[in-house]
Amino acid sequence: MPRVIKWGILGLGKIAHKFTLDIKLVEDCQLIAVASSSESRAKAFAKKYNISEFYSDYQELYINDDIDIIYIASSNENHYIHTLEALKNKKAVLCEKPLAVNKNQVLNLIRFSQIHKVFLMEALWTRFNPTFGQLLEWIEKDKIGKLRYINATFSFYGLNKEKDSRLFNPFKAGGSLLDIGIYPLFLAYKLLGTPNSLISKAVKTTTGVDEQMALILTYDSSHALLYSSFSHEEDMRATICGEKGEIYIDSRWHESPIITLIQKGKKTIQKFNFLGKGYSYEIIEANNCLRNRLNESPKWTLQNSFDLVELMDIARNQNGINFPIE
Ligand SMILES: NC(=O)c1ccc[n+]([C@@H]2O[C@H](COP(=O)([O-])OP(=O)(O)OC[C@H]3O[C@@H](n4cnc5c(N)ncnc54)[C@H](OP(=O)(O)O)[C@@H]3O)[C@@H](O)[C@H]2O)c1
Repeated sequence: MPRVIKWGILGLGKIAHKFTLDIKLVEDCQLIAVASSSESRAKAFAKKYNISEFYSDYQELYINDDIDIIYIASSNENHYIHTLEALKNKKAVLCEKPLAVNKNQVLNLIRFSQIHKVFLMEALWTRFNPTFGQLLEWIEKDKIGKLRYINATFSFYGLNKEKDSRLFNPFKAGGSLLDIGIYPLFLAYKLLGTPNSLISKAVKTTTGVDEQMALILTYDSSHALLYSSFSHEEDMRATICGEKGEIYIDSRWHESPIITLIQKGKKTIQKFNFLGKGYSYEIIEANNCLRNRLNESPKWTLQNSFDLVELMDIARNQNGINFPIE
């Protein structure tokens, strides 16, 4: 029998609800406690999902001896401090993306987890779903030849949200790049690595964060054109082209169960039945890492998280986007 992994959740906003629906579908793990800054939110959440323990003080989650791993679901500006506190209390951590807001913060978390041998992983859930696994397999098997071009975007209409929404608020490390542009950047980085150059241009909000962000990544013999925006809806397909073929991930590519390979005009379509929405796969990965006593995931390493935030730092610097907490 595999060891049952016991989870807690810190921060009970929108993503915590989606994550909870999925964790209930994963075998051999249990969500045993949740914590919120609001007692009423913690109580209502625990009641809704039948969770035995709920706290209005994060500290109680950190010190609960029954918990193996904490899912940090707070907003961006708090990821660093909440993750660090959990690690200090010897709790493994799955932290929402971005792992922290800049490379110095991420480096500190990595060092802490390595020195104290506590598991840490950024919740880049797309990496762990079967569609992404299929993409990697086709590329590894050289189905499309040498990679030459990637085009990926992530947009939605968010201009109707309040101006102090975490999306637009620099005090909450807002902006499209850290919120959703991280996904296209992750795709290019995972397939092509760190680029030789990154050029970015933002359209900024009056609050000083990016409402739209366009990125051009240049490699020895390939390009990635990436984009994120809160200003409009769009069909979010991902395009990956090699010298011998193309791969398309259906809309919305970061969570899509459908992927198509085209070789010399011949189409191969692969459709997956996801377990839940797809957060299940990062949960399964974290559970397996803990059972195997790993301190990081081989599928999305801490070096990967560092490289990704370093690229986001470059883009923010190019556009004069700073957060007051930095
Ligand atoms: N992987 C994904 O698909 C995905 C999707 C969306 C967001 N995210 C990431 O997840 C993190 C949280 O995003 P979110 O969309 O969950 O943000 P959110 O709904 O704004 O919640 C963020 C935090 O705000 C606090 N909060 C304060 N007032 C609240 C209220 N009235 N209702 C609910 N929460 C309130 C909650 O902490 P307390 O309960 O402790 O107060 C919560 O953890 C961000 O870092 C984001 O990048 C990931």
